[in-house]
Amino acid sequence: MKHWIIGLVAAVLALPGMAMAGQKATTIDELAQMFDSSRCKACHTEVYNQWSKSHHARSLMGVRGGLMLTPLAMEGMTPFSPDDPEDATIDTYPCFKCHLPQAITHAEDSVAVELTRALREGDSDKVGKLKITCIVCHNNKSIIHRKQLGEPEENVLYSSRNISDHPDSQFTSVKQSPVMKEALFCGQCHGVGVNLEFDNPVQCATIYGSYQHAYIPAGGSKTCQQCHLEPKQDGYMDHRMLPDWNDTELMSQRLAESVSLDVNTVGYEWLEAGGVLHSKVVVDTKIDSTAGHRIPDG
Ligand code: HEC
Ligand code: HEC
Ligand code: HEC
Ligand code: HEC
Ligand code: HEC
Repeated sequence: MKHWIIGLVAAVLALPGMAMAGQKATTIDELAQMFDSSRCKACHTEVYNQWSKSHHARSLMGVRGGLMLTPLAMEGMTPFSPDDPEDATIDTYPCFKCHLPQAITHAEDSVAVELTRALREGDSDKVGKLKITCIVCHNNKSIIHRKQLGEPEENVLYSSRNISDHPDSQFTSVKQSPVMKEALFCGQCHGVGVNLEFDNPVQCATIYGSYQHAYIPAGGSKTCQQCHLEPKQDGYMDHRMLPDWNDTELMSQRLAESVSLDVNTVGYEWLEAGGVLHSKVVVDTKIDSTAGHRIPDG
């Protein structure tokens, strides 16, 4: 009997990243562990290195480590802010819907309490453990029409093709996702407009709305993936998913190519009365871009 129990404990310890069905994390470390993708690096080194430089790999950190969730953690600063960190719940952070969707499905309120304390203390190392990892996109977010197609399976990763034996400790096969090639996949988090479902509506990213209502009706035909993951980087779909707003030099270079500014000016003098002249100028500015949506977003 004892041997059986020890065997079971050993088996559980041997599978650190395994998220059990229905199990919820009670600490930041547990939540980070459930979605930990560091073991993917051994075999998918290039993709992993690209992703680790992307905004998805620092989705609660803000631009240049600005910890943008801080106002929500501070007493009185937003309608969501708790007076005491102990009162924080998952609902304190409507931002999780897109910045950390696994918190909604896989975390207890105690994780929000710990996060609120970490934000108040400016503990970037702790906040930085939470990210949009490989598993979030290649499992949790890979099936959208769940009533028809069911939930993503626990031991399956999703991508563009079927692989019957995938050599990972938890995800032992890869199945074709019905949506990962579609713009809708990115639209799950990249926003259609104001999020009216919260007690206090919040608006953040709206690029998927702009893509659907402006780019596609005007004859646009590319998907987000075709512009942001291609051309391939080091032979793989580019998981840097540029832009990277922490890299000013790269961004000035890219925006110089993708945003055009056309300025026409006409100068004239207005004769108000005999001998009374006023100098006037008309400036007609047209800003355009090669993007599949408005820039800047929001
Ligand atoms: C022990 C090595 C190994 C580990 C660990 C591993 N993979 Fe893989 N993975 C592979 C191999 C080999 C393939 C098949 C590649 C091929 O046939 O080109 C693959 C295929 C894939 C594919 C499908 C690629 C496609 O072409 O559609 C995805 C997605 C993927 N892995 C994601 C992951 C993620 C996420 C992790 C971490 C949770 C992971 N893998 C861990 C070896 C590994
Ligand atoms: C509908 C999904 C969604 C919700 C809800 C959401 N965000 Fe965002 N947010 C995004 C996406 C996607 C980006 C990056 C793309 C962009 O800016 O278009 C982003 C970017 C940001 C940025 C700019 C980039 C950065 O990291 O500094 C800030 C700041 C931000 N969000 C804060 C918040 C806060 C705070 C909340 C909660 C009150 C929130 N967001 C809620 C999806 C969302
Ligand atoms: C699970 C939600 C989620 C999914 C799915 C997702 N994103 Fe994001 N994405 C975000 C969030 C949140 C940010 C902003 C992170 C931050 O605050 O820095 C972001 C940032 C970005 C950025 C960096 C630009 C910026 O202003 O931050 C690009 C580009 C991007 N995403 C493209 C894509 C594309 C293309 C897809 C689909 C292949 C996709 N994303 C799928 C949530 C998501
Ligand atoms: C923001 C969502 C997102 C994240 C995070 C993400 N991926 Fe992907 N991944 C995609 C999409 C979208 C594709 C392209 C699917 C397609 O077009 O078929 C893709 C494709 C791939 C492929 C196939 C590459 C190729 O060139 O054929 C592999 C392998 C892969 N991802 C592994 C990973 C690994 C490993 C991580 C973490 C280090 C990761 N992905 C993180 C969205 C994501
Ligand atoms: C026709 C090509 C194209 C398509 C389609 C496209 N994008 Fe973009 N996107 C761009 C360009 C160009 C930029 C400007 C920045 C750059 O050049 O890196 C940009 C910028 C962005 C940014 C940063 C905007 C900001 O203000 O912070 C995000 C986020 C983004 N795209 C996500 C998406 C998502 C999600 C989709 C699909 C719904 C999508 N893009 C479709 C070309 C495209």
